[in-house]
Amino acid sequence: MDTTWPVILDMDPGHDDALALLAALALLPVVGVSVVAGNQTVDKTFLNARRVLAMAGQSLPVARGYAKPLVRPLRTAAHVHGASGLDGYAFPPLPEDPAPLYAMSWLETVFSAQPHLNWIATGPLTNVAAFLLGHPHRRHQVRRLCIMGGALSGGNITPAAEFNFYVDPEAAAIVLASGLDIWLVGLDVTHRALLPASAIDRFRELRPPLGEMLWSLFQFFRHHEPHSRERGTPIHDVLAVMALVHPELFEWRETPLTVVTEGADRGALKPTDAGPPVHVAVNVDVDGALAWLDETLQRYRP
Ligand code: RIB
Ligand code: CA
Repeated sequence: MDTTWPVILDMDPGHDDALALLAALALLPVVGVSVVAGNQTVDKTFLNARRVLAMAGQSLPVARGYAKPLVRPLRTAAHVHGASGLDGYAFPPLPEDPAPLYAMSWLETVFSAQPHLNWIATGPLTNVAAFLLGHPHRRHQVRRLCIMGGALSGGNITPAAEFNFYVDPEAAAIVLASGLDIWLVGLDVTHRALLPASAIDRFRELRPPLGEMLWSLFQFFRHHEPHSRERGTPIHDVLAVMALVHPELFEWRETPLTVVTEGADRGALKPTDAGPPVHVAVNVDVDGALAWLDETLQRYRP
């Protein structure tokens, strides 16, 4: 696995997406971000991605993706991420976006310029599925696709489904059947790797105003994320970045998977005997993950 290949991120920031973006920027050759509707509307996830990049001093492209799932109405998560999608911090104003980019054309531009790419997806898979459907000739260029989504057991938006796969189950099923080298991190492990309050407090040691931003955002998130516990808060999407840079910190199972698209189990991840195998995380070295995140964020110290 080669992490020197350029990296593209598809996200729906979102508090954990924001932390995942900062981790990726610190470690990987990120060439840009596409945003998708999920935690909030695409207008809000677009603004939030631009806000986080600006706070990190990065001027990478942000491309606007789909405003709704492939075939069903959008369901957002304002109860978790707030009305803005990134509540908890008063971001400074941003200049008007000088040259709006759109995800499908931006992705084609990026893929035409690179022989291979690594791809990290941390929101509903609408953009990823749409691009793969419309650009099958680009599939072979994806080295690894690391996804935060799904759950082999349980759920967080219904008892059976994880939010990203619930919002766009058709897209998730298309991507899991695509044959790409997929590394899937679901709630089975993200609900174990909880970030303690002490680690959130250490965000304030990072360079201003980024440290204050992260601390304020996670003060909000830790009180709104449904799986937050006394021992800590989930960092979901951050683990999709870790899956690319440190797959050895997970225990993986390799099996074909599909996603239920109808009925009460909509969005549920199910093993199937048809289709290509994907790697799905079944355990994680929690101490190793928290130590890795702490070390990664040191790159943002004053
Ligand atoms: O279920 C957790 C996932 O849904 C994370 O990606 C979070 O950001 C939300 O999008
Ligand atoms: Ca997300």
